[in-house]
Amino acid sequence: MRESEDQVAVTADRFMETSQSIGPIVLLGPPGAGKGTQAKRITERYAIPQISTGDLLRENVRNGTALGLKAKDIMARGELVPDELLYDMVAERLRRPDCERGCILDGFPRTAAQAAWLDAFLEGGHSDKSKRGKWLPFVISMDVDYNLLLLRLTGRRTCPTCERIYNVHFQPPRVDEVCDLDGIKLVTRNDDREEVIRERLQAYERQTRPVAEYYQQKGRLVSVDGMGSADQVTEHVFREIANHSPAKVGGC
Ligand code: AP5
Repeated sequence: MRESEDQVAVTADRFMETSQSIGPIVLLGPPGAGKGTQAKRITERYAIPQISTGDLLRENVRNGTALGLKAKDIMARGELVPDELLYDMVAERLRRPDCERGCILDGFPRTAAQAAWLDAFLEGGHSDKSKRGKWLPFVISMDVDYNLLLLRLTGRRTCPTCERIYNVHFQPPRVDEVCDLDGIKLVTRNDDREEVIRERLQAYERQTRPVAEYYQQKGRLVSVDGMGSADQVTEHVFREIANHSPAKVGGC
Protein backbone atom coordinates (compact mmCIF):
# COMPACT_ATOMS: atom_id res chain seq x y z
CA MET A 1 0.00 0.00 0.00
CA ARG A 2 2.75 2.34 1.13
CA GLU A 3 4.74 1.51 -2.02
CA SER A 4 1.90 2.38 -4.39
CA GLU A 5 1.31 5.66 -2.54
CA ASP A 6 4.98 6.48 -3.01
CA GLN A 7 4.72 5.59 -6.69
CA VAL A 8 1.74 7.89 -7.10
CA ALA A 9 3.67 10.70 -5.40
CA VAL A 10 6.70 10.16 -7.67
CA THR A 11 4.48 10.11 -10.78
CA ALA A 12 2.75 13.31 -9.64
CA ASP A 13 6.14 14.98 -9.08
CA ARG A 14 7.33 13.90 -12.54
CA PHE A 15 4.11 15.23 -14.07
CA MET A 16 4.64 18.59 -12.34
CA GLU A 17 8.26 18.83 -13.48
CA THR A 18 7.51 18.04 -17.09
CA SER A 19 4.37 20.16 -17.39
CA GLN A 20 4.98 23.25 -15.26
CA SER A 21 6.13 26.53 -16.81
CA ILE A 22 9.51 27.53 -15.50
CA GLY A 23 10.51 30.26 -17.96
CA PRO A 24 13.96 30.92 -19.38
CA ILE A 25 16.83 29.83 -17.16
CA VAL A 26 20.26 31.28 -17.88
CA LEU A 27 23.27 29.22 -16.82
CA LEU A 28 26.08 31.67 -16.28
CA GLY A 29 29.68 30.73 -15.62
CA PRO A 30 33.15 30.65 -17.10
CA PRO A 31 34.23 28.11 -19.71
CA GLY A 32 34.39 24.73 -17.96
CA ALA A 33 32.04 25.71 -15.13
CA GLY A 34 29.75 22.84 -16.13
CA LYS A 35 26.98 24.76 -17.92
CA GLY A 36 26.60 22.17 -20.69
CA THR A 37 26.73 19.27 -18.23
CA GLN A 38 24.03 20.75 -16.01
CA ALA A 39 21.92 22.01 -18.93
CA LYS A 40 21.55 18.44 -20.22
CA ARG A 41 20.37 17.25 -16.80
CA ILE A 42 17.82 20.10 -16.52
CA THR A 43 16.56 19.21 -19.99
CA GLU A 44 16.00 15.61 -18.93
CA ARG A 45 14.29 16.53 -15.67
CA TYR A 46 12.06 19.38 -16.83
CA ALA A 47 11.60 18.50 -20.52
CA ILE A 48 12.61 21.95 -21.73
CA PRO A 49 15.21 22.52 -24.47
CA GLN A 50 18.86 23.46 -24.01
CA ILE A 51 19.84 26.43 -26.15
CA SER A 52 23.63 26.53 -26.33
CA THR A 53 24.92 29.40 -28.46
CA GLY A 54 28.30 27.63 -28.59
CA ASP A 55 26.65 24.48 -30.06
CA LEU A 56 24.56 26.55 -32.48
CA LEU A 57 27.64 28.45 -33.65
CA ARG A 58 29.67 25.24 -34.04
CA GLU A 59 26.79 23.81 -36.13
CA ASN A 60 26.94 26.93 -38.35
CA VAL A 61 30.70 26.50 -38.70
CA ARG A 62 30.28 22.81 -39.65
CA ASN A 63 27.59 23.69 -42.20
CA GLY A 64 29.64 26.56 -43.67
CA THR A 65 26.81 29.11 -43.33
CA ALA A 66 27.51 32.86 -43.67
CA LEU A 67 27.38 33.12 -39.87
CA GLY A 68 29.67 30.11 -39.47
CA LEU A 69 32.24 31.60 -41.86
CA LYS A 70 32.30 34.84 -39.84
CA ALA A 71 32.46 33.04 -36.47
CA LYS A 72 34.98 30.30 -37.26
CA ASP A 73 38.30 32.13 -36.74
CA ILE A 74 36.97 34.20 -33.84
CA MET A 75 35.95 31.05 -31.97
CA ALA A 76 39.25 29.31 -32.76
CA ARG A 77 41.05 32.24 -31.09
CA GLY A 78 38.81 31.94 -28.00
CA GLU A 79 37.28 35.39 -28.46
CA LEU A 80 33.58 36.24 -28.31
CA VAL A 81 31.61 36.47 -31.54
CA PRO A 82 30.25 40.05 -31.98
CA ASP A 83 26.87 40.55 -30.30
CA GLU A 84 24.96 41.53 -33.41
CA LEU A 85 25.85 38.28 -35.19
CA LEU A 86 24.02 36.29 -32.52
CA TYR A 87 20.68 38.01 -32.18
CA ASP A 88 18.88 36.58 -35.21
CA MET A 89 20.09 33.07 -34.40
CA VAL A 90 18.93 33.28 -30.77
CA ALA A 91 15.63 34.99 -31.65
CA GLU A 92 14.80 32.28 -34.19
CA ARG A 93 15.52 29.55 -31.63
CA LEU A 94 13.51 31.21 -28.84
CA ARG A 95 10.45 31.55 -31.08
CA ARG A 96 10.13 27.80 -31.59
CA PRO A 97 7.17 26.15 -29.85
CA ASP A 98 9.34 23.84 -27.73
CA CYS A 99 10.31 26.93 -25.67
CA GLU A 100 6.72 27.50 -24.62
CA ARG A 101 7.21 26.30 -20.99
CA GLY A 102 10.78 27.45 -20.69
CA CYS A 103 14.30 26.86 -21.94
CA ILE A 104 17.86 26.71 -20.69
CA LEU A 105 20.18 29.32 -22.10
CA ASP A 106 23.70 27.92 -21.99
CA GLY A 107 26.35 30.47 -23.01
CA PHE A 108 23.94 33.34 -23.68
CA PRO A 109 23.89 36.18 -22.68
CA ARG A 110 27.62 36.70 -22.42
CA THR A 111 27.91 40.48 -22.53
CA ALA A 112 25.88 43.16 -20.76
CA ALA A 113 24.58 44.24 -24.18
CA GLN A 114 23.32 40.68 -24.87
CA ALA A 115 21.60 40.61 -21.45
CA ALA A 116 19.81 43.91 -22.18
CA TRP A 117 18.86 42.63 -25.65
CA LEU A 118 17.40 39.43 -24.15
CA ASP A 119 15.29 41.32 -21.61
CA ALA A 120 13.97 43.64 -24.33
CA PHE A 121 13.24 40.68 -26.60
CA LEU A 122 11.33 38.79 -23.90
CA GLU A 123 9.51 41.88 -22.60
CA GLY A 124 8.54 42.79 -26.14
CA GLY A 125 6.49 39.60 -26.49
CA HIS A 126 8.32 37.99 -29.36
CA SER A 127 5.70 35.32 -29.90
CA ASP A 128 2.94 35.62 -32.45
CA LYS A 129 0.55 33.83 -30.11
CA SER A 130 -0.84 36.56 -27.87
CA LYS A 131 -2.01 34.01 -25.30
CA ARG A 132 1.61 33.43 -24.38
CA GLY A 133 2.85 35.76 -21.68
CA LYS A 134 6.26 37.19 -21.09
CA TRP A 135 8.97 35.93 -18.79
CA LEU A 136 12.20 37.37 -17.61
CA PRO A 137 15.17 35.06 -17.22
CA PHE A 138 16.15 33.45 -13.94
CA VAL A 139 19.93 33.26 -13.72
CA ILE A 140 21.99 30.54 -12.04
CA SER A 141 25.65 31.51 -11.76
CA MET A 142 28.15 28.68 -11.31
CA ASP A 143 31.37 29.51 -9.47
CA VAL A 144 34.52 27.44 -10.03
CA ASP A 145 38.23 28.18 -9.34
CA TYR A 146 40.58 28.97 -12.22
CA ASN A 147 42.85 25.91 -11.81
CA LEU A 148 39.91 23.53 -11.73
CA LEU A 149 38.49 25.15 -14.88
CA LEU A 150 41.80 24.51 -16.67
CA LEU A 151 41.77 20.86 -15.59
CA ARG A 152 38.15 20.38 -16.64
CA LEU A 153 38.64 21.95 -20.06
CA THR A 154 41.87 20.16 -20.96
CA GLY A 155 40.23 16.86 -19.91
CA ARG A 156 36.94 17.36 -21.76
CA ARG A 157 35.96 14.95 -24.53
CA THR A 158 32.65 15.00 -26.40
CA CYS A 159 30.78 12.45 -28.48
CA PRO A 160 30.33 13.95 -31.97
CA THR A 161 27.11 11.94 -32.45
CA CYS A 162 25.07 12.21 -29.24
CA GLU A 163 27.00 15.21 -27.79
CA ARG A 164 27.43 13.53 -24.40
CA ILE A 165 30.21 15.25 -22.46
CA TYR A 166 33.00 13.26 -20.71
CA ASN A 167 36.13 14.16 -18.83
CA VAL A 168 39.28 12.04 -18.78
CA HIS A 169 39.94 13.14 -15.16
CA PHE A 170 36.43 13.28 -13.68
CA GLN A 171 33.90 11.42 -15.84
CA PRO A 172 35.89 9.06 -18.07
CA PRO A 173 34.08 6.79 -20.52
CA ARG A 174 34.08 3.05 -19.73
CA VAL A 175 36.41 2.40 -22.70
CA ASP A 176 39.19 4.93 -23.26
CA GLU A 177 38.17 7.71 -25.73
CA VAL A 178 34.96 5.90 -26.81
CA CYS A 179 31.36 6.99 -26.13
CA ASP A 180 29.53 4.68 -23.69
CA LEU A 181 26.25 5.17 -25.52
CA ASP A 182 27.09 4.72 -29.21
CA GLY A 183 30.68 3.44 -29.39
CA ILE A 184 31.83 6.48 -31.43
CA LYS A 185 35.35 7.85 -30.94
CA LEU A 186 35.27 10.92 -28.70
CA VAL A 187 36.64 14.25 -29.92
CA THR A 188 38.43 17.18 -28.28
CA ARG A 189 36.96 20.60 -29.02
CA ASN A 190 39.05 22.86 -31.22
CA ASP A 191 39.08 25.61 -28.57
CA ASP A 192 40.11 23.29 -25.70
CA ARG A 193 43.81 23.83 -26.38
CA GLU A 194 45.60 25.43 -23.43
CA GLU A 195 46.56 28.69 -25.18
CA VAL A 196 42.96 29.17 -26.41
CA ILE A 197 41.50 28.25 -23.01
CA ARG A 198 43.49 31.08 -21.41
CA GLU A 199 42.05 33.58 -23.90
CA ARG A 200 38.51 32.26 -23.28
CA LEU A 201 38.92 32.64 -19.53
CA GLN A 202 40.22 36.20 -20.01
CA ALA A 203 37.31 37.01 -22.32
CA TYR A 204 34.98 35.77 -19.59
CA GLU A 205 36.52 38.07 -16.97
CA ARG A 206 36.49 41.05 -19.33
CA GLN A 207 33.12 40.67 -21.02
CA THR A 208 30.91 38.23 -19.11
CA ARG A 209 31.49 39.22 -15.46
CA PRO A 210 29.35 42.36 -16.04
CA VAL A 211 26.43 40.07 -16.98
CA ALA A 212 26.37 38.72 -13.42
CA GLU A 213 26.35 42.30 -12.11
CA TYR A 214 23.51 43.19 -14.50
CA TYR A 215 21.28 40.39 -13.17
CA GLN A 216 22.40 40.85 -9.57
CA GLN A 217 21.16 44.43 -9.67
CA LYS A 218 17.82 43.21 -11.01
CA GLY A 219 17.54 40.61 -8.22
CA ARG A 220 17.33 37.72 -10.66
CA LEU A 221 20.62 35.96 -9.93
CA VAL A 222 21.45 33.09 -7.60
CA SER A 223 24.91 31.57 -7.21
CA VAL A 224 25.71 27.89 -6.77
CA ASP A 225 29.01 26.31 -5.83
CA GLY A 226 30.21 24.62 -9.02
CA MET A 227 33.28 23.01 -7.41
CA GLY A 228 31.67 19.76 -6.23
CA SER A 229 30.98 16.63 -8.25
CA ALA A 230 28.56 16.94 -11.17
CA ASP A 231 25.87 15.23 -9.04
CA GLN A 232 26.38 17.63 -6.13
CA VAL A 233 26.12 20.63 -8.44
CA THR A 234 22.96 19.17 -9.99
CA GLU A 235 21.41 18.90 -6.55
CA HIS A 236 22.05 22.61 -5.91
CA VAL A 237 20.80 23.62 -9.36
CA PHE A 238 17.58 21.58 -9.07
CA ARG A 239 16.94 23.06 -5.62
CA GLU A 240 17.25 26.59 -7.00
CA ILE A 241 14.92 25.80 -9.90
CA ALA A 242 12.36 24.22 -7.56
CA ASN A 243 12.44 27.31 -5.31
CA HIS A 244 12.05 29.72 -8.17
CA SER A 245 8.80 30.82 -9.71
CA PRO A 246 8.87 32.56 -13.09
CA ALA A 247 8.72 36.36 -12.96
CA LYS A 248 5.58 36.25 -15.13
CA VAL A 249 3.74 33.19 -16.30
CA GLY A 250 3.49 32.58 -20.02
CA GLY A 251 5.67 31.27 -22.85
CA CYS A 252 9.41 31.49 -23.22
P1 AP5 B 1 30.61 27.67 -25.52
O1 AP5 B 1 30.40 26.45 -26.30
O2 AP5 B 1 29.46 28.32 -24.86
O3 AP5 B 1 31.77 27.38 -24.49
P2 AP5 B 1 32.07 27.97 -23.04
O4 AP5 B 1 31.22 28.99 -22.44
O5 AP5 B 1 33.50 28.33 -23.18
O6 AP5 B 1 31.71 26.85 -22.12
P3 AP5 B 1 32.14 25.38 -22.25
O7 AP5 B 1 31.24 24.64 -23.16
O8 AP5 B 1 33.61 25.29 -22.55
O9 AP5 B 1 32.03 24.91 -20.73
P4 AP5 B 1 30.78 24.44 -19.89
O10 AP5 B 1 30.57 25.40 -18.78
O11 AP5 B 1 29.59 24.14 -20.76
O12 AP5 B 1 31.38 23.12 -19.28
P5 AP5 B 1 31.04 21.57 -19.53
O13 AP5 B 1 29.73 21.22 -18.94
O14 AP5 B 1 31.28 21.18 -20.95
O15 AP5 B 1 31.28 28.82 -26.44
C1 AP5 B 1 32.34 28.53 -27.32
C2 AP5 B 1 32.68 29.78 -28.14
O16 AP5 B 1 31.52 30.19 -28.90
C3 AP5 B 1 33.03 31.03 -27.32
O17 AP5 B 1 34.39 31.05 -26.96
C4 AP5 B 1 32.66 32.16 -28.31
O18 AP5 B 1 33.64 32.34 -29.30
C5 AP5 B 1 31.40 31.61 -28.97
N1 AP5 B 1 30.15 32.02 -28.29
C6 AP5 B 1 29.23 31.19 -27.71
N2 AP5 B 1 28.24 31.90 -27.17
C7 AP5 B 1 28.52 33.20 -27.41
C8 AP5 B 1 27.87 34.42 -27.07
N3 AP5 B 1 26.72 34.43 -26.38
N4 AP5 B 1 28.45 35.58 -27.45
C9 AP5 B 1 29.59 35.59 -28.16
N5 AP5 B 1 30.26 34.47 -28.50
C10 AP5 B 1 29.74 33.28 -28.13
O19 AP5 B 1 32.16 20.93 -18.59
C11 AP5 B 1 33.54 21.06 -18.90
C12 AP5 B 1 34.25 19.76 -18.53
O20 AP5 B 1 34.21 19.58 -17.12
C13 AP5 B 1 33.61 18.50 -19.12
O21 AP5 B 1 34.61 17.59 -19.46
C14 AP5 B 1 32.74 17.95 -17.98
O22 AP5 B 1 32.63 16.54 -18.06
C15 AP5 B 1 33.53 18.38 -16.75
N6 AP5 B 1 32.69 18.73 -15.62
C16 AP5 B 1 31.55 19.51 -15.65
N7 AP5 B 1 31.06 19.63 -14.40
C17 AP5 B 1 31.91 18.94 -13.58
C18 AP5 B 1 31.94 18.70 -12.16
N8 AP5 B 1 31.01 19.24 -11.35
N9 AP5 B 1 32.94 17.96 -11.66
C19 AP5 B 1 33.90 17.45 -12.48
N10 AP5 B 1 33.91 17.62 -13.82
C20 AP5 B 1 32.93 18.36 -14.35
